Amino acid sequence: MNVVEYLKGKRTYRKFRRDAIMGEALTAILTAGQLYSSAGNKQGIKYVVVNKPEDVKVVNSLVHWAAYLPKEVGTPKPDEIPVMFIAVIQDTDVCPPNDTDAGLAIGNLQGAAWCYGVGSCIMGAIDRPKLKSFLKIPEEMVLHSMIAFGYPLKESHPVDFKDDIKYYLDENGNTCVPKRPIDEIYRFL
Ligand SMILES: Cc1cc2nc3c(=O)[nH]c(=O)nc-3n(C[C@H](O)[C@H](O)[C@H](O)COP(=O)(O)O)c2cc1C
Repeated sequence: MNVVEYLKGKRTYRKFRRDAIMGEALTAILTAGQLYSSAGNKQGIKYVVVNKPEDVKVVNSLVHWAAYLPKEVGTPKPDEIPVMFIAVIQDTDVCPPNDTDAGLAIGNLQGAAWCYGVGSCIMGAIDRPKLKSFLKIPEEMVLHSMIAFGYPLKESHPVDFKDDIKYYLDENGNTCVPKRPIDEIYRFL
């Protein structure tokens, strides 16, 4: 697949099949979380992997889905929730929190996942105190975000931006994500 087609597909997904992420796909995702670039190669990002169904359910109850969509269509139903979450943690014992490092680590996780057809969603709207307690994350560490993973039930596509950046669902329940045009976001000097 060419890189643009790959990147068009590597969108946010919010509804998933019940198939577990295992074997080579899981190994690739975890390895990608080791291989990100970081300022000074400090590597201050740590992770907690949540993939036991009963734990996934608890985490899912502490995250908020799709702010632009009505809850009844944007939030996964109980049989559509992710099969895995990875907590992205900034370890303040290693270095001060650095959101560029966290973003690069998350990009690696998502990029590796999509190579195996595993979709994902970055979750920033989360109940951090309750999640930190449930995941046993030490007080001084920062829970940056939770990343949801699973094999998508629906599709998601970039569409031309008209006058609104809000994503929406088409008649088949697939997500359409408006992207600003190339000539609006780049300027050649
Ligand atoms: C920092 C960050 C936080 C996000 N938090 C949430 C969230 O809490 N819940 C959610 O459903 N989506 C969340 N998203 C997903 C965005 O809504 C999504 O990336 C955006 O709509 C663009 O869609 P795309 O990723 O398919 O391009 C988050 C994305 C980023 C980058």
